[in-house]
Amino acid sequence: MTPKVPFGGDYNPEQWPEPVWDADDRLFAQASIDTVTLGVFDWSLTQPAPDRYDFTLLDRIVARSTAQGRMICLATGTGAHPAWLARAHPEVTRVDFEGRRHRFGQRHNSCPSSPMFRRLSTELARRVARRYAGNPSVVAWHVGNEYGGACYCELCAAGFRRFLRDRYGTLAALNTAWYTTFWSHTFTDWDEIEPPSALTEHWRGPDHTAFQGITLDYRRFMSEAMLTNFVDEKAAIRESSDLPVTTNFMGMYRPIDYHRWAAHLDFASWDNYPPDDDSPAWMALSHDLMRGLKGGQPFWLMEQTPSTTACRDVNPLKRPGVLRLWSWQAVAHGADAVLFFQLRASRGACEKYHGAVIGHAGRSDTRVFREVVELGAELRRLGGVTLGARTPARVALLFDWDSWWALEISDGPSRLVRYQQVVLAYYQALWSCGVDIDVVPVSADLAGYQVVLAPALHLVKDDLADRLARVALRGGSVLTTFLSGRVDVDGNAFLTDVPGPLAPLTGVRVDEWDARGADVVNPVCLGHDDDRTEVPARLVFELVIPVGAEVVGSYRADFYAGTPAVTRNSYGDGHGWYVGTALDQPGVDWVVRRILDHHGLTGPHPDVPGLERTVRVAPDGTRLLFLLNHGTEPIEIAATVDGVDLLTGARVESGGPVRLDTAGVLVIREDECG
Ligand code: GLA
Ligand code: ZN
Repeated sequence: MTPKVPFGGDYNPEQWPEPVWDADDRLFAQASIDTVTLGVFDWSLTQPAPDRYDFTLLDRIVARSTAQGRMICLATGTGAHPAWLARAHPEVTRVDFEGRRHRFGQRHNSCPSSPMFRRLSTELARRVARRYAGNPSVVAWHVGNEYGGACYCELCAAGFRRFLRDRYGTLAALNTAWYTTFWSHTFTDWDEIEPPSALTEHWRGPDHTAFQGITLDYRRFMSEAMLTNFVDEKAAIRESSDLPVTTNFMGMYRPIDYHRWAAHLDFASWDNYPPDDDSPAWMALSHDLMRGLKGGQPFWLMEQTPSTTACRDVNPLKRPGVLRLWSWQAVAHGADAVLFFQLRASRGACEKYHGAVIGHAGRSDTRVFREVVELGAELRRLGGVTLGARTPARVALLFDWDSWWALEISDGPSRLVRYQQVVLAYYQALWSCGVDIDVVPVSADLAGYQVVLAPALHLVKDDLADRLARVALRGGSVLTTFLSGRVDVDGNAFLTDVPGPLAPLTGVRVDEWDARGADVVNPVCLGHDDDRTEVPARLVFELVIPVGAEVVGSYRADFYAGTPAVTRNSYGDGHGWYVGTALDQPGVDWVVRRILDHHGLTGPHPDVPGLERTVRVAPDGTRLLFLLNHGTEPIEIAATVDGVDLLTGARVESGGPVRLDTAGVLVIREDECG
C-alpha cells in the first residue's frame, strides 16, 4: 500500500450480526477507510470466565479486516473489566473520593493497585499480542482506554505509602515536605498516612485540601499507578511483538501527568472532543501539547466524532465542512492519522446517539457519510507527504501538570483562576499571530527557542529558573504571569520575594496581591505615547514593584492605580516579561504581539479573524504550509510563498490572492527555493 495518513476509527462489529459486517465493508471501501481500531472494550468477550479465553469472534473480526486490506490498531481490551471479575474480586472496583466502594458498572473503573486487575489485564494483553502479533495487518497496539480518574481504596493507600517511601526515604523528609507541623500533622509511622479524600484532608471536593503537599503527592501517585498498568501491559505485549504501543490520551486532562507517561508510549495519540464548536485555539493547543509529548514527533488523532457527541447535556452537530476542517487542523499540527469514534453507531446503551460514520440505518447517502467519503478521497490523493513531518517552532509554551495541580488545589488568592484558561489565553494570542508553537514540558530543552511563555507557572522545580534565565541571556524573551514562581516542588512557598526563583529574570518583586470577583475590572493601560491602549484585567491584581524592570502597563483604578501591572526586564541580551494580572484577551494579545514582533516571528496575516496557519517540514525537507479558515466569513489574503495547493492542484504565487471559503483548507507545498 502506498504510504498515506491512516483513516478510519473505532469499530465494534461484535455489537451487531455478521451480515451487517458486509455492508460495513462496502461502505468503508467507498469512504477510503483503511484503518480500524478493534476490541477496545472486548474483555468480557475474550475472557468470558476466569479460566477461559475465547478469541473466536475477535479472530473473525480481525480476519475480516485483514482480508479487506485494512490496517488494524488492536486494543488489549482492558478499559472495562468484566462483571464476573468484579463479582469474584470486589477489590478490582474502585473506592471513590467519598470513600464508597463501587460495585460492577460503567467502565474505566478498575483499581490500578488491585493485584487481580493487574495480573488479569496484563495476561489478557499478553494473549492478545501473542495471538495477533504475526498478522501483518496489525500496525499498532492500543492499551486500555482513556486512563483516568482516581481510587482511594486500601490497596491504593498501601501503594501510596510505598510511593512515599521511595520518594522521601524517611518520615522526617516527608514531614518536612508536607509541612506537617501545621495542624498537628507530624507522622510517626508510614501506616498513619491516608489518601487525601473527603474522609481525610478534603472538603468541598478534590480541589479543597488542608495539605497541598499530600494532595499533590497523591495526584502524582495515582498518575504513576495507572502508568504502571500501562507499562505492565506494554511489557506483556513486548514478549511477542515489537510493534508500536500507544494509549489514547485526552489532551488537557488534569488527573494524568502525560509528560510522565510520554516516554513509555511509542507514539502519542489522543481523542479530540473540544468543549464547544468554537474552540480552534483550544484544539490547536491540545494538538501541540500532544505533539510535545514525544519531542515533536507526529501523533495520532485516535478519536474525534464525525458529527456529535452524546455525553453532554446538549450535543450540537458539527456544521458542514467542520469534520474536514478539524481533521486537517489535526494534520496541520502534527497528526499522522485521522480516526473517528465511531465507524458504526452502537444500537443500545449510552452512546447510541453518538455520531458515527455509519448510522443505524446503514445509509451511504447521509451528509456525514458524504463528508467522510470526500475527506477519505482527499487524504488518499495527498499520499504520504505529511507523514513524519515536523513543526519548525521557535516559540515554546510551557505546560506543567504540577503547576496545574498546585495552582488549583491552593486556598488563596482566588479559586476563579483556572490554569487551562490562563495558558489558553497566551496560546490563543500566539495562535492568532500564525506562529508555530511547541507546547513543551518544563523539563524540555529550551535552547532552540527565541520566545518561551510560561503562564501561571505556579510551581517551579529543578533547574527550570536557570534554564529560563539562559533563554533571556542569549537574547530570547521569556514571559511569566501572576501566580508564577510561588511554590516549590512540595507546594511550599519560597522564602524569598515573589516570584521566587523567577525574580532575577523578571526584575520585579510582588509583596501583595488583590483578588476580586469576575465582574470587577481594573483597566490596565499598556504602552506609551502613540502606542497606547487600555484593556480590562480581572481576578487577581498583583502589586508589582519593579526591581530593575521597566513598566509596560499600569493599573488605572483602586488604591494601586498608577502602579505597574506589566513589566519588561532587560536580562543579558534578552528580556524577562512579567504580567501581574489576568488581562482580558486583547491585553494578552497586545503583550504577546510585542514579543513576537521584537523577534520578527509574527506571521504574515496576524489580524485575519479565524485564520489558522501552521508549517510542517517533511523528512525530505519539503515545507508544507497549512491555511485553515475557522471563521464565519470567507478569507482572502495575499500568498507569501510560491507553491502548489496539494488538495486542488492549484498554483499559488507569492503576492497573488489566496481564497479560503468558510471551513476552507489549503495545504501548500512550497516550491524549493534556489
Ligand atoms: C471516548 C472513548 C470512546 C467513546 C467516546 C465518545 O473518547 O474513548 O470509547 O466513549 O469517548 O465520545
Ligand atoms: Zn484502589
